[in-house]
Amino acid sequence: MLGIPCLLGVLAVTFSLVPGAQPLAPGNLEEEEEEETTSPSLPCDYDRCRHLQVPCKELQRTSAPACLCPGLSSPALPPEQPRLGEVRLVAEDSLAVVHWCAPSSPVHQYWLLLWPGGGAPQKGPPLNSTFRRAELKGLKPGGSYVVCVVAANGAGESSVPGPGGLGLDGAGGPSFGPCGRFRVPPRPRSLVHAAAGVGTALALLTCSALIWHFCLRDRWGCPRRQARATPRL
Ligand SMILES: *[C@@H]1O[C@H](CO)[C@@H](O)[C@H](O)[C@H]1NC(C)=O
Repeated sequence: MLGIPCLLGVLAVTFSLVPGAQPLAPGNLEEEEEEETTSPSLPCDYDRCRHLQVPCKELQRTSAPACLCPGLSSPALPPEQPRLGEVRLVAEDSLAVVHWCAPSSPVHQYWLLLWPGGGAPQKGPPLNSTFRRAELKGLKPGGSYVVCVVAANGAGESSVPGPGGLGLDGAGGPSFGPCGRFRVPPRPRSLVHAAAGVGTALALLTCSALIWHFCLRDRWGCPRRQARATPRL
């Protein structure tokens, strides 16, 4: 008679053991909470020199524990100067690819200023705040240029030293400013030109070898012929 309640009791114990696996869950929660409290301030994956970089504030908004952004100057002030990076020349297309890094300021847009050989500056199209790279097209082979990056926000534009601020014989320009000086090579150096150059060199070499050969033969041959031709007295 006691057997059935006993069996029920055993069954109850075994069934209660199955949900017994659940007490781990609060433990997991605790661990997650610990992770959140121990790593609250990782820097955002933000690179001020990376092209098409999402603004840090947006990264901060989308990351679950809010990441840290570099400090910025006040939005009520015009941006500080961006820093010009590499200016890579693609001579075949009379093209230059200009790189820059964002300043520590809120920026709404960028544009490039280009001084072709000391004339009036040409203003490039506006580029949104994610840009860190732009192309300059239609450059003249052999031309010398000054390029500056300008950043702007609601309060104004970053200052530009311009070509005068670079100094007349500053070869590479300042390494940390928004401007740089560059020179387009005088002639496009394509593979066709290189091949033509090698061909011309080979032709010249052959010609000079032939001339040298005949010259030597003349020098050696003529005195003998002369000796034979002139009768000895
Ligand atoms: C900036 O311009 C790029 C390329 O035109 C575009 O893909 C991106 O969505 C723009 N970003 C913003 C914030 O307007």
